[in-house]
Amino acid sequence: MIFYVKRRVLKVRSCQILGLLFLLICVSLFLLHNLCDNEILLQYTSQERIGIKTSITNDITRTASEFPRVDILSRASIGEYLWNHLLEGKKEFMSDRATYKGNKLVDDLNFTFHSGNAEISITSDSNIVLVIDGSSQLNQKKEELWLNSMLLFHSPKSLFLVILGDNACGDNQWVVHYLSSNGGPISAAFVVHSSFLADEDEVYQWPLGVATHRDFPLFWVSEIDILSPRPFICNYFGTNPVHNTTQDVIPQLLKELKLENSCYLKMSSKTAFSTFESLGEYIQAVSDSDLSLCPATKTGSPETHCIYEAFSLGSVPVVEDVEGSCGRDSLFLLKKHKAPFILVESIENELGDVIANENTMNLQEKIARRATVINWYAEFRHHMARQFYRVVHSKIKL
Ligand SMILES: *[C@@H]1O[C@H](CO)[C@@H](O)[C@H](O)[C@H]1NC(C)=O
Ligand SMILES: *[C@@H]1O[C@H](CO)[C@@H](O)[C@H](O)[C@H]1NC(C)=O
Repeated sequence: MIFYVKRRVLKVRSCQILGLLFLLICVSLFLLHNLCDNEILLQYTSQERIGIKTSITNDITRTASEFPRVDILSRASIGEYLWNHLLEGKKEFMSDRATYKGNKLVDDLNFTFHSGNAEISITSDSNIVLVIDGSSQLNQKKEELWLNSMLLFHSPKSLFLVILGDNACGDNQWVVHYLSSNGGPISAAFVVHSSFLADEDEVYQWPLGVATHRDFPLFWVSEIDILSPRPFICNYFGTNPVHNTTQDVIPQLLKELKLENSCYLKMSSKTAFSTFESLGEYIQAVSDSDLSLCPATKTGSPETHCIYEAFSLGSVPVVEDVEGSCGRDSLFLLKKHKAPFILVESIENELGDVIANENTMNLQEKIARRATVINWYAEFRHHMARQFYRVVHSKIKL
């Protein structure tokens, strides 16, 4: 080609006008030829990316504005928290396959979300984020079997895990074998209720979040009324019957502190919030309260959905700062981010003091505190989303 152009340039000397024309044609031909080359390369890369050197693939994918794809495959409701609440992605119901699907571009990563009975094809070319529920031994076994069968047939290019850990801090150690530092396929794990060391390099402590399994929605900062007086000092939604735990104590405690009329109390059976009406009642009550009582669970974990739900509605959670049975502080992440909650050792012993302090505050102070709470929570969500993106982006094999 270059030789061809040179020969034409020689002709320009003898016959300038005609030569110039020829030169123009040649330059056009030259450009056209290059364009065609690129097009062929493009088709080739999109069909057979595996075989091509990464340097070429990278150049071409960038210029074609095709972004690396990351599939989030959710088998647990914390997947909805990650997708809808942290990454602020939307999802659609695919009625033909009874699954939910969503798509969102976060900077230069093209995230696709799948939940429900999603069966996606995993190839050696995929980047997969697997969201699983390991909160009971039965689930752990089930998910480990599923993970093994997946890896047996098609090992993805990169694999990440978001896992709801064992509430009772039993045994999430099984995940450790699968981490890349131990020769396994998992580049990073985000663990809720982590019972092993979150080193913030390969294992990250992850927030439990709101109860997406009860459809607790995402509220935007602008949707929350922080200016009006709230009719209740506090609210408490408990489950009955639970023996000899803080939860049993609270109704009696509210009576003793003469808070029956100023705190919203609802005790129900295990199926609390199973209906849309009761979820609505709960959201209304939390929005109408300056404090929300969020005692530790009966298994001793202080991190509950109640905390995140209260924050999102501008209500300050009163949280029991107790060490979980596995010896790890499940409030570690929230404390690290300076969450604006009220920490007590025991709600039973300290609620009286908390309420006394509450009564010294005027409306202006409460409004300022509500603003702090909802803004903090929005920032926390964004921070966690950015961290998720950064980790996946840095460990993905492009
Ligand atoms: C992201 O991937 C989906 C397929 O899951 C595709 O339809 C969409 O065009 C991609 N978006 C971008 C910006 O590359
Ligand atoms: C609850 O505690 C009381 C004493 O504190 C005890 O007598 C009772 O057996 C306990 N009940 C349960 C179900 O553990």
